[in-house]
Amino acid sequence: MNWYLPLSASRVPSCEQSAVILSTRYQQIPRNAATIYNLFVLLFDDERVLPAPRPLQARPITIHTHPASGGPSITAIMIAILSSSALMAIARVALGLLGVVVLALAVISYRYYAFRRRLPPGPAGLPLVGNLFEMPKSHPWLTHTELHKRYGPIFSMQYGLSTVIYLGTQEAARDLLEKRSNIYSSRPRFTMVGECISQGNRSLILPYGEQWRGYHRLQGSFLSPRMSNTYRELQDLESKQLVSEFLTKDDFFKRFHRYSSSLTFALAYGKRMPTGQEEEVKGVEKIMDNLNKAFITNWIVDSLPFLNHLPSFMKPWKKIADFLGDEERDFFYKIRDGAAQRRGYNWCKDILTMKEHKALTDTQLSYVIGNTYEAGADTTTMTLQVFTLAAVLHQDKVKILQEEIDRVVGRDRLPTFEDTEKMPYLAAFVKEIHRWRPVLPGGVPHAVTADDEYMGYHIPKGATIVGGHWAISMDEGLYPNADNFEPERFLKNPDLPYSQFGFGRRKCIGQHIGNNSMMINVARMLWAYDIKKGWEIVDGKKVEAHVGRLDFYSGFNSPPLPFKAAFIPRSEKVPEIIRREFAETEKSTEIILERIEQAQQILKGGEPTVVAV
Ligand code: HEM
Repeated sequence: MNWYLPLSASRVPSCEQSAVILSTRYQQIPRNAATIYNLFVLLFDDERVLPAPRPLQARPITIHTHPASGGPSITAIMIAILSSSALMAIARVALGLLGVVVLALAVISYRYYAFRRRLPPGPAGLPLVGNLFEMPKSHPWLTHTELHKRYGPIFSMQYGLSTVIYLGTQEAARDLLEKRSNIYSSRPRFTMVGECISQGNRSLILPYGEQWRGYHRLQGSFLSPRMSNTYRELQDLESKQLVSEFLTKDDFFKRFHRYSSSLTFALAYGKRMPTGQEEEVKGVEKIMDNLNKAFITNWIVDSLPFLNHLPSFMKPWKKIADFLGDEERDFFYKIRDGAAQRRGYNWCKDILTMKEHKALTDTQLSYVIGNTYEAGADTTTMTLQVFTLAAVLHQDKVKILQEEIDRVVGRDRLPTFEDTEKMPYLAAFVKEIHRWRPVLPGGVPHAVTADDEYMGYHIPKGATIVGGHWAISMDEGLYPNADNFEPERFLKNPDLPYSQFGFGRRKCIGQHIGNNSMMINVARMLWAYDIKKGWEIVDGKKVEAHVGRLDFYSGFNSPPLPFKAAFIPRSEKVPEIIRREFAETEKSTEIILERIEQAQQILKGGEPTVVAV
């Protein structure tokens, strides 16, 4: 069935005519149609507003309707309405606007793709949003590793206005983050965490500049390799407590956490944490938890940092930031004040003896130590968890290491730090733990502070540069059979690099303490125990618990998901030796810290210990 309506008339038939046109076929609803049409005529069909009428153009359109449809469709009515000359004028304006929008989009698209063409390769994305909708929901480093296979050692993604460049080989990461560290050592802007919560005080995310250099000099003076070795007596005590705990407990996640918290807190603030349940440990856990949540939340102010200049009442995130910021500052002041009262060495007291501290405010000084604690405690805990996973899954490699340990130490005493220096397989084993499952697999982002070029690609100033620890660790070119746990690769080549501690000037400054912890604990745990899969009850039967090679949390940190492991003493003599050695070890924190202070004074009498940055 056909319908004929004027398509491009500047003036339409009167409303009666329209009603007639509509009503001739749509007997059932002419009144409704006419009413709608009337309304538009009343609104727009005004001689004063509209141009002079032009004759009706005889270009009909055909509307196909079904005879039994019983009434005009909304489309038919809208066509009738749009035939009004006023609406045609509006339509023309709308068309004009649409043209402008299309043109603008074309220009934006052209500029976007021209910009993208100069960047390292990567998924094309869309103008304006880039690859925003392609962000992986979890374990992004796995997706990035696949993208490296497609695009090579360097690829880029565009997230809104932010360009992120991923580096997937040691060579690329070293070429940029180390060899050109003068421009690759800053951090991307974290508006909520860095500016709103920490008010520009948090060391890990400070941009590269005078303030960060001030922090780094202070941290470098107490974390240098020589100073780190003076902390061994404390590590010896904590490590003996750790191995003795496994005689009665198998909650190894918590035991490792206690070890790392106690060691780092004693060094930073002069107080050990013998149970791991102390108020201070819980306080730091809360601050870290708040921080992790704030990092993974999508704050609008992170995407649009200029919003931070709005008046306070227009910034709903400010209340949260003030609350969290006040909480962490109060806590950092409180533990810093406690440290000042204690006898013996601690980092809070130590930095006040250095002239570099004068350039920093009281708040900044409390963050220098608070943030060092944050950076050191969890990373060590997670790496010890990865050790347990590797040991449970790779019994053949554990056997080789146990033979080395027994050869060097014998079976009558626990290994010492001096012993560990005579164990090349142990050193290779620890490096392979770092490489095999890096605990910060996504890497810690750097930012570039000047335009640059690499492999013929443009690297724009301000871009985020990510040396992906996971992608690099899984690079088959450097680490054949990368998913296999093979300490032998580091025996064959002791200089084989690994990325666990990051790169360039931002590389982990606490790595010497971290490595000493790994060496002594791995040696002692494997001297004392066979570490096997734990047990669980399934359908009433005792079976070996499931342990997944790839079961890891997804987040900034990625420790293994909880799994069960059993620490079985390797002989009947082991418990007695562990208990005796632990009982005989000095446990007074004050005495140990005083000895550390004396050792440091002797060292400081020698070469300067301040690191160059
Ligand atoms: C096995 C344990 C550890 C791992 C895996 C680790 C890993 C890292 C990584 C990946 C970074 C960032 C590097 C980059 O930006 O390229 C870092 C930074 C840092 N780490 Fe560690 N770390 C460990 C232990 C420690 C310890 C024990 C301390 C101190 C007690 C410490 C203190 C720091 C500090 C202060 C920074 C900040 C550097 C900056 O200013 O940007 N870390 N760590």
